[in-house]
Amino acid sequence: KSIPQVEELLQKMTLDEKIGQLNLLTPGGGIATGSVVSKNVEAKIKVGQVGGLFGISGPEKMRKAQDLAIQNTRLKIPLLFGSDVIHGYKTTFPIPLGLSCSWNMELIENSARIAATEATADGINWNFSPMVDIARDPRWGRIAEGAGEDPYLGSAIARAIVKGYQGNDLADPKTMLACVKHLALYGASEAGRDYNSVDMSKIKMFNQYLPPYHAAVDAGVTSAMTSFNDIDGIPASGNQWLITDLLRKRWGFEGFVVSDYTSVNEMIAHGLGDLQAVSALALKAGLDMDMVGEGFLTTLKRSVQEGKVSEAEITQACRRILEAKYKLGLFDDPYRYIDPKRPATDILNATHRKTAREAAAQSFVLLKNHNDVLPIQKNAKIALIGPLANNKNNMLGTWAPTGNPQLSFPVLEGFKNAAPNATITYAKGTNISNNPELAKKVNVFGPRIEIDERTPEILLEEALKLAQKSDVVVAVVGEATEMSGEAASRTDLSIPDSQKKLIRALVDIGKPLVLVLMSGRPLTIPEELALPISILQVWHPGVEAGNAIADVVFGDYNPSGKLTATWPRNVGQIPIYHSMKHTGRPAESTEFQKFKSNYLDVPNSPLLPFGYGLSYTAFEYSDLKIDKKEIGLEESVNISVTLKNTGDFDGEEVVQLYLRDVVRSITPPQKTLKGFRKVFLKRGETKTVRLTLNPDDLKFYNSQLEFVSETGEFEVFVGTNSVETQKVSFILN
Ligand code: IFM
Repeated sequence: KSIPQVEELLQKMTLDEKIGQLNLLTPGGGIATGSVVSKNVEAKIKVGQVGGLFGISGPEKMRKAQDLAIQNTRLKIPLLFGSDVIHGYKTTFPIPLGLSCSWNMELIENSARIAATEATADGINWNFSPMVDIARDPRWGRIAEGAGEDPYLGSAIARAIVKGYQGNDLADPKTMLACVKHLALYGASEAGRDYNSVDMSKIKMFNQYLPPYHAAVDAGVTSAMTSFNDIDGIPASGNQWLITDLLRKRWGFEGFVVSDYTSVNEMIAHGLGDLQAVSALALKAGLDMDMVGEGFLTTLKRSVQEGKVSEAEITQACRRILEAKYKLGLFDDPYRYIDPKRPATDILNATHRKTAREAAAQSFVLLKNHNDVLPIQKNAKIALIGPLANNKNNMLGTWAPTGNPQLSFPVLEGFKNAAPNATITYAKGTNISNNPELAKKVNVFGPRIEIDERTPEILLEEALKLAQKSDVVVAVVGEATEMSGEAASRTDLSIPDSQKKLIRALVDIGKPLVLVLMSGRPLTIPEELALPISILQVWHPGVEAGNAIADVVFGDYNPSGKLTATWPRNVGQIPIYHSMKHTGRPAESTEFQKFKSNYLDVPNSPLLPFGYGLSYTAFEYSDLKIDKKEIGLEESVNISVTLKNTGDFDGEEVVQLYLRDVVRSITPPQKTLKGFRKVFLKRGETKTVRLTLNPDDLKFYNSQLEFVSETGEFEVFVGTNSVETQKVSFILN
């Protein structure tokens, strides 16, 4: 499958020119997530020492950078322009964890397509997304950037995003290279601490953590990024089993692999040798491009001379990068993505904002609706309280460096737009946190936690006065954006103390209280959930935050989001997820007097299960049917259920299907997601919802890591979340 133009070019290239292509730099000015930013970038481009850049944008800057490569280098090889467009470019969508709660693949694909349209309008042709790391530890702040705990849903989302970015033709100037990251297992870092070690059995990897990366590869993803953690003792960027044996040979990946930011150099700290040694290790493992660290640039030639790596290995890495440039059409026209007319029409236009608003509304999860207080009448007297109620700085969420917080809608503005006849008063009530140390850590990229000069007592009193005069209180509380995301691990996942006090004081006023809860992760809120209040989880909703929250609070959109990561009762229950295995001594067993798998202080069950989420209406499930009681190995089975909207609102429901393999050669999960469908039902309407289990849905990786199904009984659970389900079963012969 070699590309003749690329082969011709490779014939002409010197060793230095090939090594230059393997070097990815960032000139700084953006977010430096490592200890360095690149120096003398212009000079390096001119002498052919750079294959791509990231962290710059806009047609003018891109043209200037591309000119440096085209006008000064011997072979005029164009640069790649990368960026982290994680949940939208300038039209910021909800954080990915939020977006996943929509369970709406079409919407997710569309959000990716919009992100690609906008980013390419600004000259970017390579996106460091999707992040598909399965995360079952909400202490890890980057849980915000992925699709949660489940490999089946995570795989569907990975496919949708890759398709959205790459489209059908990479040479189309509105599509871009996707980059699946972080290969691999990054979401399982020990103790939920970022950049930490991972140790996991192959069985668990293959069955639980690897499927979304594999799905991205099957969807044609053109690049992959290695992770910071080690796997079986070898950091991902130098791990030959991972990059070559698994990704390339077993999965058939044909694109190029880039390291994470200085992750090659960081292998020195991991204890694997000096820069020359770790760079050679990475190249030999199959890594093609070195992000920022310049270990490839400064040591590979010496390694060739000393016989530690071969020129053929360098040529192969270079070939993969050139092939990506070729696919983008950059050899035909290096300026293909640089069109000064595009930003004005293609970025942050009304259509994109409309989709961002819909996406945000669909990402919200109604956790509790006490006395059906929601939706609120548009002519009510509303006290809008809380440190996140009128706060543009915290609407976009983590990893939104290309978005502009000042262009976002805060909740106060959204409420005023949606309900001009309501009486809306506003008070901050408290700071997000009164902890100056925390504020210092999260304010690195802007004022996320602003500590008010007024005393906590004065702030609280002002809020309580407004609450007393209102019909209903809406308190917008939770995490500042940078309290989750990269390098934002927490060991205490409760709402910060200052806000907890505010909530208690508002409850004491006795008016109906709605918490609009923002966070980048599942929080531990057992006390708040037990209060006589309503709770709408809105994550960090993006540029249309206030408008979307108003849509749901006032009932213009009926919430339909379902949790994609389990919410624990407390941090001690972590990891906790719906597909946990059986124990021989279940807590509910009466067989054992004391010696059971349980805690002395809390039940084993989570606070809120995977798949959970309420609606303003009610859905009734009945008549669960399966079309066959017995099937053969290569047969499918069809399941149907009758769903009735029995409440007072039109609405959507995410019908979920879970499977239990009753007996198999390796211990099965208690149940695991294997299907879902989001359906709209008018009030009073009944529909038959059909789901199919295909032969692959019954398969798992066995002890030999073969993907097989085994004969025997399977139980199928269908319902509104992973706990409230009905059951049928069938036999695989
Ligand atoms: O893409 C990111 C990655 O997710 C974390 N480290 C920095 C990279 C480039 O910005």
